[in-house]
Amino acid sequence: MAGAGISTSSGIPDFRTPGTGLYDNLKKYKIPYPTAIFDIDYFHINPKPFFCLAKELYPGNFKPNYVHFFLKLLENKGVLLRNWTQNIDGLERMAGVSGSKLVEAHGTFATASCVRCSRMQDPTRVKRLIIEDKIPRCDCLKRGVCKPDIVFFGEDLPPRFYSLKRRDFMNCDLLLVMGTSLEVEPFSGLVNDVRFSTPRVLFNRDVVEPFTKRMRRPTDVVCPGDITESVKKLIELAGWTKDMELLLGETTTVDEKSLFKKPAWIYKEKT
Ligand code: OAD
Repeated sequence: MAGAGISTSSGIPDFRTPGTGLYDNLKKYKIPYPTAIFDIDYFHINPKPFFCLAKELYPGNFKPNYVHFFLKLLENKGVLLRNWTQNIDGLERMAGVSGSKLVEAHGTFATASCVRCSRMQDPTRVKRLIIEDKIPRCDCLKRGVCKPDIVFFGEDLPPRFYSLKRRDFMNCDLLLVMGTSLEVEPFSGLVNDVRFSTPRVLFNRDVVEPFTKRMRRPTDVVCPGDITESVKKLIELAGWTKDMELLLGETTTVDEKSLFKKPAWIYKEKT
């Protein structure tokens, strides 16, 4: 399970870190409350603040970092059941994680639709108009505003979230929770959907609920601090340092086939 904290070293601010987080830096948009920028009711009244922000957030402006490539490494190793992400930056995809291995729970910039008639729109046209500071409109009778299909507060999550949720979390045998405050439902609730015996590992700067001393399970592991450092340590412990270097294109000394060799303990994916 991933959140905005995995992309901060790519230069994208997270949402809630005091001072640097997006919600502390929205004064220029003159919105009534920080989350209004992603609120569908507010968007119906005034879509401009979101479009201004979208210009900056559109994929293409940022590059995947070590943590995104770690997710790709897990896929190459055959141990990634799924990458459940709240991020809309598309950096996991850019690092090479396959679409079938991803659940983009808070949507994506890759598609767009009309907020009135729900008709799908050409995402390239929508992006072009947003970049040109124009409001993209649908040609339906209501001339609805079109927006990228990222999930706003007040909107439902993609069907894929609901169709894979039970299967994935019941079948998960190790849950990595990375770079998220776990404050936004229903995504945050997924952390409790794994079996009680399934170890859960938190890689996050702060210890967030339900990983606090009072709430954590006996099998939980908490790694506070910078996520890249924690992931590097995990890769070292797994003996994957060279595989990772190869993936990052830093060295060619490792046998390429070993990157795709499944370890003996691999979980057999049922889906
Ligand atoms: P948050 O900003 O709420 O949480 C990010 C977490 O990552 C915080 O706990 C940070 O301390 C941690 N963090 C940041 N950089 C880190 C680093 N380099 N190493 C380790 N930890 C780091 O972001 P999300 O949990 O992703 O929803 O927010 C969830 C949702 O809230 C978003 O998807 C968005 C937002 O409103 C919608 O827009 C619908």
